[in-house]
Amino acid sequence: MIRILTSGESHGPSLAFILEGLPAGLYVDTEFVNSDLSRRQRGHGRGQRMRIESDRVEFVAGLRHGYTIGSPLCGLIRNRDHKSWSDVMSADPLPSCSDARPWTGREVFAPRPGHADLAGLVKYGFPDARNVLERASARETATRVAAGAVCKLLLAELNVRVYSHVISIGGISTDPTPEKVIAHYDQVEASPVRCLDSDVAERMIEEIESALSEGDSIGGVFEVIAVGIPVGVGSYVHFDRRLDAAISGALMSIPGVKGVEFGAGFRVAELRGSKVHDEVEPSDLDPRGYRRLSNNAGGIEGGVSNGEPIVVRAAMKPIPTLRKPLRTLDIRDGSAVTASYERSDVCAVPAAGIVGEAMVALELAKAVVEKYGGDSIDELKAHLQSSQTSLPRPNEGSKL
Ligand SMILES: Cc1cc2nc3c(=O)[nH]c(=O)nc-3n(C[C@H](O)[C@H](O)[C@H](O)COP(=O)(O)O)c2cc1C
Repeated sequence: MIRILTSGESHGPSLAFILEGLPAGLYVDTEFVNSDLSRRQRGHGRGQRMRIESDRVEFVAGLRHGYTIGSPLCGLIRNRDHKSWSDVMSADPLPSCSDARPWTGREVFAPRPGHADLAGLVKYGFPDARNVLERASARETATRVAAGAVCKLLLAELNVRVYSHVISIGGISTDPTPEKVIAHYDQVEASPVRCLDSDVAERMIEEIESALSEGDSIGGVFEVIAVGIPVGVGSYVHFDRRLDAAISGALMSIPGVKGVEFGAGFRVAELRGSKVHDEVEPSDLDPRGYRRLSNNAGGIEGGVSNGEPIVVRAAMKPIPTLRKPLRTLDIRDGSAVTASYERSDVCAVPAAGIVGEAMVALELAKAVVEKYGGDSIDELKAHLQSSQTSLPRPNEGSKL
């Protein structure tokens, strides 16, 4: 079973993650992981913080000469910005102070609507929101991207690939087919907003610039596509084994994501069954013996992968920290004030897509390791190769 734990505050010394349950013998290409970290930092609309950071992973356990050894994999990502926050975010008591927690001048007394600030400080009884926003910040998603990149390397051994692209920003949208996205993926990677259509990308950038100039923010939708997942991953036999439920939960856990849909998505609620369900026809060309005429289900039926590409979209709300701040109250005296402002992105949909890739990769890696099992990557591959992916032929002697 693959498990993950992440740790770290936005301006603390370091972020960290532990990925447990990886098979032994997986080659972990650190530069591949670093390249995903750098992809998460890019995208038109990101704020100053991403110019300060230059995220790189440092593996401190679980690898030997580049290969996993079956023990928990532990990675660190240092926060470069910590040097400007070393007193504020010191893990040790400050030498000059006798108070349990001295004021540092970086307290947040005006909680930002749309963030965990207010609910978090009430929940934990903090005198200001600093402890809340340090951990609730999406900075933590760097650890998920690093761990997700390791999961992508595992999936690549099984010929599974994960992609993402942006479908809409601030209401400007495009809807290319997954096949087209994959065929022209270099253009997605080169786009400042990770959008395949360069004209649409231009308009998205204008929209981001307009929000920036007005001290506002915008959201959008990204899509993740996973190809190569064999039939039968996940299960219908119990609700918590459904692959779509696991992937939705993982995507919903990305800060700012407010909705997830598979395949034809919410549109299916308006269409007739004959226009939605993916018909099947016999095919000698497909090793499974059949093919689908469409993929409105987005590759999962009844919680089980059906062998088609997994296609899932996530909607991200506008960034809640606004340069033209919203109304809130000062928690010290309850007076009406405007929310705290701290250096912020205006739009992070392209970056959220990279986090989305990581979360989908993590859930797929968990599910394939659970289904096929094995202590080493060779065992895992052998189990996959010997597993049932084509049509079983009913026969009289079968015990099933
Ligand atoms: C990659 C990424 C970057 C983000 N950057 C910011 C940011 O700079 N400022 C901000 O206020 N929110 C940012 N967010 C969104 C907030 O973290 C999120 O809205 C907040 O934690 C509240 O969580 P919720 O929206 O899921 O309720 C970002 C999210 C992601 C995924």
